[in-house]
This record gives sequence, C-alpha cells and structure tokens, in this order.
Amino acid sequence: MKFPDIEFDPFFAWVNRPKIMYSPGLRSEVGYELGELGGKKVAVFTDKGIVDAGVAQMVIDEIEKSDLELVGVFDGIVQDARIETINEGAKYYKKVGADSMVVVGGGSVMDTSKAINIMVGEGHEDFKPLAEQAALYDTAKRLPPHIAFPTTAGTGSEVTSAMVVLDVEEHLKLSVAHPYCNCDIAMLDPELMVKLPPKITAFTGMDALTHAIEGMTATSHEPIADALCIHAIRLIVKYLPIAVNKPEDVEARGYMLIASTLAGMGFGNSMTGGVHATAHALGGVYGVAHGMANGIMLPLLMDFNTKEAPEKFMLIADAMDIDCNKIDPKEAGTLAAGVVRKLKKKCGLTETLKDFDIPDDAEKLQQLVEIASGDSQVGYNPRYLEEEDILKLYLEAM
Ligand SMILES: [Fe+2]
Repeated sequence: MKFPDIEFDPFFAWVNRPKIMYSPGLRSEVGYELGELGGKKVAVFTDKGIVDAGVAQMVIDEIEKSDLELVGVFDGIVQDARIETINEGAKYYKKVGADSMVVVGGGSVMDTSKAINIMVGEGHEDFKPLAEQAALYDTAKRLPPHIAFPTTAGTGSEVTSAMVVLDVEEHLKLSVAHPYCNCDIAMLDPELMVKLPPKITAFTGMDALTHAIEGMTATSHEPIADALCIHAIRLIVKYLPIAVNKPEDVEARGYMLIASTLAGMGFGNSMTGGVHATAHALGGVYGVAHGMANGIMLPLLMDFNTKEAPEKFMLIADAMDIDCNKIDPKEAGTLAAGVVRKLKKKCGLTETLKDFDIPDDAEKLQQLVEIASGDSQVGYNPRYLEEEDILKLYLEAM
C-alpha cells in the first residue's frame, strides 16, 4: 500500500515519563530498581482478586528477598478508582510508615494508586476536590518512588499521566491528569498474567485495541502516537486470540503487555474519542466494565467515523492485514470494523448492551446520552457527535 498523507496539527508536545522494563520474571529486579529510586520502606497496593490468585505474592516474594522493608499490603482496591478507596489507601500508606509503593494490578489498581501517591506526596486529606479539577498541574510536585506491575494488558495506565476516577454519587467517570502521577518504572512481567481469566483477557485487550485505534483517529493525534498505535494494533490482532485461548502462553501475554503499553503511550498523548465517551457513561451509570463497554462500542464508532478519517483508517486496516491496494479509502474504517468483529468472536466476546439490562428505549437512554456528550473525550472524536448520533449508537449496540 502506498503510504497516505496524514495531516496533523503543526504543534504538538510529546510527553512520556516512565522508564519501561520488560522481561518474563522481571519482578526479581524490583528490590534493586526501587532502591535506586530511593525507596526503603515499601507498601504494596493491589486488590483481593490479585491476592487470591497468588499473583501479588509473586511480587511480594521478591520484595522479601531484597533489601527493601515490606511495611504493608493494601488489598482494598475495587473496580474503578473510587474516592473513598483513594482516601483510605492514603491513610494506610501514612499509617504503616511507607516511603514508596509497588503496585500490582490492572487499571483500577493502578489508577487508584496514582491518586494515593498524589495524596501522600502533596499532603492532601481528601481526593474529592482534586477529582473535581480535570488537571492537577499548577501545584504538582514530584511524588514518592512508585513502581507498577500491570496484570492486565489493556488500560496502559502504567504509562499514562492521568487516572479515571469514579464519582459514585454522580455516576460520573472523571479523567484527572497530573504530570508525575504515573509510576517511575513500569515493570512488564508477562508471567504475572498467565492466571488472568480468558474473559477478562479478552475485554481488557479490547480496551488496548480501542486506545490504539482512537489514539490514531483522535483529532489531536500526532506522528509519534500514530507510530505507537499502529504497532499496537498489529500486535493485538495477532496475539489477543492466543492470549485468550492459551492463557499460559507467556510469549502472547508478553506481546499483549507490550501492545497495551504502546497504545497507552499513544492515546495518553493524543487522547481517545467517541468509544471512550460512550463507554465511560456505560461504566458510570450501569457499571459495565470499561474494556467490555469499549469492545461493544468500538466497531460501531469505526463505522460512524470511517468517512471522516480515511487515511488513518487505511493505515489501521493495513495494520490489520487488509489488502488496501484496491479499496476505497472511505470504506477502510468499515472493513477494519469487520476485523474487530471477527476478533471479538475469536475471543468469545458476544455481549451487547442488552446483556447488561440497559433499556433499549430512547427516553430511558437520555441520561447516558447526556453524560457521554459531556465526556472529556467526546471532542476528540474525528466526526462531530450530536446527541442524536450517540443515542443511535447506543441503540445499535443493543
Ligand atoms: Fe480505556
């Protein structure tokens, strides 16, 4: 395929802070690496599922073999970063006298831990007023040493300088940015992922794919993000079905971890779009898991957007192994959406919004439509989304 011209805004800034390390078994380096960052008394932040699966222990064993002092394990993190959990985690950090954190978990664990580190590093007592500000740049400080081991290949939270916080009372998912909130080192150890159940592997993988596709098609995309996102798409299309169907395949798990990190670096700089806007509303109001909601909405938004970003969709289709020599560029997004639908099938993702008891009634969907149309990501969608478009997309997703 002849490389199409891709326009981009003539000004962009590239920001990417964490050191990234990769190796099966990398957790054995945690003591040395945290020590180099100045950490001595470490608290581990995780969730009960990760503890029960024995995955947290795989990292704790290595901490205990090192010169670090393990001062506590906080496993009270639940799905979605919640303000009360953040406040509780920050109190725990101070109570046990930690000076650094090691985080073992997926997106909710990593996002909650980022917020906890802001609380302890900047001396706040309550995260609520911080969550209400979209960006915490003006008073941002460098934060205490922080290493993250992602245990899902989806969110990319290990490399993004923002966290999504759930406001339970308002049913809102708020994106909060802070320049130093992401970890100092993202340690990618695919051995920590082999126990992740196929369903969670599948829908977290769809989150990573959505980051890669929206990271490229976002109105604020730029060439560095494009490069990262394109390679992430290639890896996900190839390795997600293997990781789902052969959970113990460390190579496939490794490529998926790398892909989600690449996509995280991409969208973390260029933002996302309509899939994330509609998925955030589904998560906030109906509790639909983020990757699951993205997986349902992604092909529908690709169909919706195809004519607005033909060159970008040509590159996406090419990365999905579609022969782009003889296709109409305006159809590239629709063809790529077909690949996404097939990929979902291979991964056992057959859910629609009906499976989550969401009413297929325009009036009852109005709350979702209003939240999605006010979401921080909606403006980055390549095609302008009217409220009626969002309603139509939700109805199509039934
Ligand atoms: Fe996401």
